[in-house]
Amino acid sequence: MTLAELIPTLGESLRGQLEPGIWPRSVCHGTDGDLLLGGVPLTQLAARFGTPAYLLDELTVRQHCREYRSALPDVEIAYAGKSMTSRGVLRWIAEEGLSLDVCSAGELAVARSVDFPASRILFHGNVKTPEDLKAAIAYGVDRIVVDSLDEIEQLGALARYPQNVLVRVTPGVDGHTHKAIATGVEDQKFGFSLRSGAALEAVARVLAQPSLRLVGLHCHIGSQVSRVASFEEAARLMVGLMAAVHSRFGLTLSQLDLGGGHAVPYRCGDSSFDLQGYADRILRAVNFECSSHRLPLPRLTIEPGRAIVGSAGVTLYRVVTVKHGVSRTFVAVDGGMSDNPRPSLYGARYSVRPVGRRFSPTGHPVTVVGRHCEAGDVLAEDVVLPSDLRAGDLLAVPCTGAYHHSLASNYNMVGRPPVVSVHDGVARLLVRRETEEDLLSRDLG
Ligand code: LLP
Repeated sequence: MTLAELIPTLGESLRGQLEPGIWPRSVCHGTDGDLLLGGVPLTQLAARFGTPAYLLDELTVRQHCREYRSALPDVEIAYAGKSMTSRGVLRWIAEEGLSLDVCSAGELAVARSVDFPASRILFHGNVKTPEDLKAAIAYGVDRIVVDSLDEIEQLGALARYPQNVLVRVTPGVDGHTHKAIATGVEDQKFGFSLRSGAALEAVARVLAQPSLRLVGLHCHIGSQVSRVASFEEAARLMVGLMAAVHSRFGLTLSQLDLGGGHAVPYRCGDSSFDLQGYADRILRAVNFECSSHRLPLPRLTIEPGRAIVGSAGVTLYRVVTVKHGVSRTFVAVDGGMSDNPRPSLYGARYSVRPVGRRFSPTGHPVTVVGRHCEAGDVLAEDVVLPSDLRAGDLLAVPCTGAYHHSLASNYNMVGRPPVVSVHDGVARLLVRRETEEDLLSRDLG
């Protein structure tokens, strides 16, 4: 018998804390090194659904929706569907009273399939194909966020009055995030520059289209942004632009959409987002700017995606081999960059936890790698895992609810993992695993 088994509290501390904010709300320790999610043991989920598998805690998603609504009761909260779209999740979002941001006819098709109210949908994207625009118009989405002069003309020709429109603005605000997801700064593909005057020009073009009704402005400064000051600065600039629209066109805009991008912690020690602080500072900034410009308060919208679903997700992998290299140990699992390309795209770092049996309390740093045919297929670098970890063990990677299922690919003809929701002791398959038949069905020979 080990010391940890003799002294249960020691065993508990060796198994480590389940850092709040990174793991789903419902997670807790089970017996023999297992974890329970939504009351269901992870070992049971692995046995029933196989690995790799995306697990999603319904309670966490719903609680995040409620926290946003109670922190910002008069603000429209539009879930950014690009972070994780599935019919089950969109049903929860609709039930929780949130609105929805979609950015393709495909995302809209999922929303339509669960009768997500069109009156609560915004349609985004720097490229909207004619099919996207037609799908948006046919479903009657409440607002289309226009992003280019060509789009304004194309939409103007297709739409019937009154199609509500927001103009997407690039406010020139640095969100201090990874370059690939920084969208508030000049010289990237999204929006109309505020500074150059392109945003006012876009407003003029929308006003010239008889079928379009300009209701407001939109900005999204980037994703995984933790500095509330950046959001506040963007809000001030956007109200300033609303005042410029008023003085130049005599038009009072009734809506202001400040986008999403609220950061979440992926590992212990990562900074987290101060939602209440954000709420207080944004509302104060908008109130102040509106009163100094003598504008009525607009209806505000925000679009969190990652903050709603990120920490609700856990990915479960099985170790296939442990290989001792010259200077590093590689723990290779049955998934990889096809189910999580974020480390290679953004240098994202994750924590990893072994589950399903009692492990040695001693450990050493390893590199967790995937099954794909490139050396860059790394899921987590320098994570300390038990020294007795071996093939067949299960690994759980938390904070994989956002931009994992939605970014997944079929690289190396590997089928995408299932999405399994858990709640109150019940597991439900939301999206089934992709099979070889699925993969072959598109290939016509
Ligand atoms: N609104 C708009 C217009 C957006 O473009 C986005 C994200 C959001 C809202 C939601 O942002 P969130 O709250 O989820 O950060 N694949 C990257 C993230 C790309 C974000 C794209 N736009 C990642 O895995 O980090």
